[in-house]
Amino acid sequence: MGITYNAYLIMDEKITLVDTTKKPFASELIERISQIVDPSKIEVLIANHVEMDHSGSIPAIMEFAPEAAIYACAPLGVNGLKAHYGDKYNYVGVKTGDTLNIGKRTLTFVQTPMVHWPDNMVTYSAYDKILFSNDAFGQHITTSKRFDSDNPYHLVMAQAKKYYANIVQPYSPQANKALQAVKELDIDIIAPSHGVIWKDHIQDILAAYDKWTTRQVEEKCVIVFDSMWHSTETMARAIASGVTAAGVEVHLYDLKENPQSDIMTQLLDSKYVFIGSPTLNSHMMPNVAGFMTYLKGLSPDNSNRHAVAFGSYGWAPLGPKEVQAALEETKCNMMSDVETCNWVPGREYLDDFEIRVTELIKSLKKC
Ligand code: FEO
Repeated sequence: MGITYNAYLIMDEKITLVDTTKKPFASELIERISQIVDPSKIEVLIANHVEMDHSGSIPAIMEFAPEAAIYACAPLGVNGLKAHYGDKYNYVGVKTGDTLNIGKRTLTFVQTPMVHWPDNMVTYSAYDKILFSNDAFGQHITTSKRFDSDNPYHLVMAQAKKYYANIVQPYSPQANKALQAVKELDIDIIAPSHGVIWKDHIQDILAAYDKWTTRQVEEKCVIVFDSMWHSTETMARAIASGVTAAGVEVHLYDLKENPQSDIMTQLLDSKYVFIGSPTLNSHMMPNVAGFMTYLKGLSPDNSNRHAVAFGSYGWAPLGPKEVQAALEETKCNMMSDVETCNWVPGREYLDDFEIRVTELIKSLKKC
C-alpha cells in the first residue's frame, strides 16, 4: 500500500511547521509550502520525532528559515537532531505539559517515549482540537483522499493494524501509557505522520489501540511454515483442518509466498500459533529462522499466546526443535512438546495428528 510522510503547516501569527519529510521529498515539501506562504516566514518548526522520515528535510527548511526555532523533546529529541544535523540551529527542548503560544493557538507537548523511539512526542492544539500524533495512529496507506472516512473503513483499519503490528508493537506498554495521556485530551482530529487523518473514526482507532497495546487476543490461529518436499506443509494443512474442526478461525502462511509483515499483522491478535520447519543442515529453514528473528524483535513477550513447533525430518529433528526453543524464548505458552514426523507423514499419522490438534484447541478455547 506504500506510505506517506505527512507534515502540517499551521498558519498563525508565528507560522509553524509540524514535522518535515524524508530528505528526497524536501523540494516537494518546500514547493507545497510555497503555494501557501513563503517558507522563509516559518518561525517555528516542531520535530515530534528524530527519525529521518520526519526530520530529513529540516536542513532544507532551515536554509529558507535559518532563524526558526526547532522544538523537540528534551533532551533526547534535541540531542538526536544535533547528532544528525549539527548544533547550528536554534533548538528548544520541551517536556510533557510545556506549551508554546503561536498566536491564536497555544500548542501543548506530550512526550510519548518509545512510541517508537525514545525521543517521540506529540503536539496538541486545543484551539483546533487537533492532535499531531506523529507515528502513533499511522497507517501504511498512500491515497489522495486525506481523511479516514474518504477511504474504505476496513482498509484504513487494516493498514493501521499492519502499521501497529510491524512498527509500534514491541513497545506496547509504552504505547498504552501514551494512549491514556492522549485520551485525556479533547480531540476532533488526529493527524498522524503516515497515512490518512482520523476525523470520523477516532473512537474506533482509540479502541483498537486499547486492544493492541494491552495485547488482547481473539480465538484465531496462525500457522506459519516453510517446507522443502511438502512434508512439513502437509503437517501444516493437517493442523489447519484440526483447528478448523475445533471451530477456530485459521490463517495458513507459507513463508515462501507471504511477506512477514502480513503474517505479523494477523498474529497480533491471534491466540494460537503453530510454526513449522523441516531440518536443513542441522537447523531450521533460513526463512523460518528469519521469521523467528522478526517475531522476537516485534513481539518479545507472547505470554498471551499458545504455541506449537512442528516439522518433518530425515535423520534428526533438529529444525523443529530449534523452532521450539525460539518460541520458548518469546515466552509463548507451549501447548505441547515439539511435533515431529519422520520423512513423509502418512494418512494414519495425519488423521491422528488432526484429532490431537482439535482436542488441544478445544481444551484451550473459551466455552
Ligand atoms: Fe515515521 Fe519512526 O518514523
